[in-house]
Parts: sequence; C-alpha cells; structure tokens
Amino acid sequence: MSSLLVTGGAGFIGSNFTRYVLENTEHTVTVLDALTYAGNRSSLEGLPEKRFQFVKGSVCDARIVDELVQSHDVTVHFAAESHNDNSMRDPSPFVQTNVVGTYELLQAVHRHDKRYHHISTDEVYGDLELDDPEKFTETTPYNPSSPYSATKAGSDMLVKAWVRSFGVRATISNCSNNYGPYQHVEKFIPRQITNILDGHRPKLYGTGLNVRDWIHVDDHNTAVLEIIDRGRIGEVYMIGADGEHNNTSVIELILTLMDQPADAYDHVNDRPGHDLRYAIDATRLRQELGWRPRYADFSSGLQDTIEWYRAHESWWRPAKASTEAQYAQAGQ
Ligand code: NAD
Ligand code: DAU
Repeated sequence: MSSLLVTGGAGFIGSNFTRYVLENTEHTVTVLDALTYAGNRSSLEGLPEKRFQFVKGSVCDARIVDELVQSHDVTVHFAAESHNDNSMRDPSPFVQTNVVGTYELLQAVHRHDKRYHHISTDEVYGDLELDDPEKFTETTPYNPSSPYSATKAGSDMLVKAWVRSFGVRATISNCSNNYGPYQHVEKFIPRQITNILDGHRPKLYGTGLNVRDWIHVDDHNTAVLEIIDRGRIGEVYMIGADGEHNNTSVIELILTLMDQPADAYDHVNDRPGHDLRYAIDATRLRQELGWRPRYADFSSGLQDTIEWYRAHESWWRPAKASTEAQYAQAGQ
C-alpha cells in the first residue's frame, strides 16, 4: 500500500484515475488541483474519506508542492493545461502550468528522493502521414506543433534531464487520445454528444480526415498503474490501444448511435497547424509489463460514454454555453 499524490485529479483523466485507484487498490490518494475552468470538484464526490483527501492549490506553488511531495510515497503528475485550441488563444498558462509546474514537482521529488510518474501525450512527436506504416515509438524524435504540445514536450525534457543529472526516480508515459466519462465539453467527443443532446449539429474541423488513436480512459489508467508498480526507472512507455479512427467517422458513429442521420453535422474552420494523424506502437508496454486494454470495441465504449453524458447533464451543463461561445468566436 502506498500514498499517492495525484496532481490534476479534478480533471478528466486524473479524476478517473483517482476513482479507479480507490476502487481497485489499497493505496491512499491526495489530489492537488487548482480547480481551473477544467477542474471539477464534483468529479470526485462520494470517495472514501479515510483514503482520500483534496487540496486546492497550484503545482506552481513551490511551498505546497514541497510539503505534499515530502509526505507521499509517489507523485503522479496529471495537472496541465490540456486543450490545443485554448493554447492558440493564450499560451501563457500552458507555459506556467506545464513547464514551471513540472519543474517545481521535479525539484521537490529530487529534494525528498521520491518516486515520480509523468503523464504525457503522443502530441510531443508531431504528426504522421495518413499512409505512414510507422507509428510513434519511445524513440520517435520530438516535433511538437502547438503551444500545448510544445510545453508538454518541454516538460518531458525536464523529466529526462532530472533523471540523468540528478538520479530522480521517474518514469514517463505518452498516451493517445482518451475518451470516457468526466471529460470537459470543450473536447471533441463530449462536444459532439452534448451538441446533439441540445438539438445542435456536431462541428467537424476542416476536411475531417485527421486521425486520432482513441483509448478508453480506464485503459490509460490501468497502464499508468502498471508503470508505477513495475516500470523501469528512467524509461518512457507509449500507451495506446490500436484505436485509429478519422474524425468524420467518429462524428458519423456518434450521430448513428444517437439515432440521428449520419450526415447531420457542419464543417467549421480548421485548427491552425492541425496535426494530421497520431498512432501509437505500445509494444514495450504490452511485452515488458503484460498490459492489455479492456475496451476493445470503440463503438460500445462510445455508447457507454453517450449514456454517461445523457445521465449527467448537471455535471456538464454549467460549462456548455461559455465553451460554445468561445468556439463561435473562432468560427468553430
Ligand atoms: P483536463 O484539462 O481535463 O484536467 C487538467 C486538470 O489539471 C484540471 O483539474 C485542472 O484544474 C488542473 N490544473 C490545471 N492547472 C493546474 C495547476 N497549475 N495546478 C494544479 N492543477 C492544475 O486534462 P486531462 O485531459 O485530464 O489531461 C490530464 C493529463 O493527461 C495532462 O497532462 C495531459 O497532457 C495528459 N494527456 C491527456 C490526453 C487526453 O486525451 N485528454 C491524452 C494523453 C495525455
Ligand atoms: O493525443 C493526445 C491529446 O489528445 C492530448 O494530449 C490532449 O490533451 C487532448 O486534448 C487531445 O488533443 P486533440 O487536439 O487531439 O483533441 P481534441 O478533442 O481537441 O480534438 C480531437 C480531434 O477532433 C482533432 O483532430 C480536432 C478535431 N475536432 C475537435 C473539436 C473540439 C473537431 O473536428 N471538432 C471539434 O469540435
């Protein structure tokens, strides 16, 4: 049994991770979260008080980070500014949270000789051509496209340097696009589901040929737990579940699963610098740690996600109008 400090635990993946850990292991969890627009305290409601506590604060606050890192066995760093479109409008919080926040955590884990796991993204590798036979691996060169992915790449580099120069006991995972419950309505899949629930048409950027490699959030989180338990210190693990789909086909599937005509969507302005394709080769994770995804069928995972948003309108409703107003300003 270990005590875990989970940064960003009020966000999409961090809240699912916290819930999964408390339901399936003996570990205790402390969430450190600044409750930005993307953090939602209600995503953590009903968790057992004896094994869970919540601290409101920023990963950029050196004092609070030092105190919490020192008093826990393992730090799992999810906290980030995570949305590409926002990083076009204002990159500043991305640099602060993603780069400076990671720096503060690394300094603290170094001072107190604590185990650290860094949550990162496949976007640090840039994008692939649609017909490229190669997928991203742990040795693919970094080539980020957006302010978001550049700051995530910078944070990964800090981790690698602190491992090599200071012997920090860290691992890194780079995962593909997650879907599932508690995801903010700014993101692609929840945006389209909640648009349809509101009687509005889904919005497709550009040609819609862009490919994302979808993985259920619980599969991401079981992989993270395996890496924390048995991953090799200093190593990088790619996390993905062979879930490549282009955006047009995902919108059409959502419409069909929600009993709408498959072509009832609008084409809107493309994202500047829009990455064409991501695809993960998770061979190391599968062979070394024996990890397997449990959500093999994207369509049924999507159907469950649709039902979750249908049943949890009070969770997503408060963010919907302001999110759509921002998209409208960009013609999206
Ligand atoms: P999210 O935007 O849903 O949640 C981010 C959380 O971090 C929020 O609760 C927010 O309040 C918190 N936060 C932001 N700034 C903070 C600060 N300065 N101090 C403390 N807390 C702060 O993000 P997500 O989609 O859950 O992503 C979590 C992590 O996983 C990120 O590091 C992201 O880069 C990575 N990732 C995401 C995906 C994906 O598909 N969503 C895929 C691969 C990797
Ligand atoms: O690959 C991992 C990354 O996945 C994470 O690092 C990011 O934190 C996460 O936000 C996600 O990034 P994307 O930019 O791929 O996700 P997003 O949900 O914003 O968009 C997915 C695809 O859908 C992308 O090609 C843009 C497109 N899109 C998005 C929205 C919001 C649309 O066509 N219409 C939309 O309304």
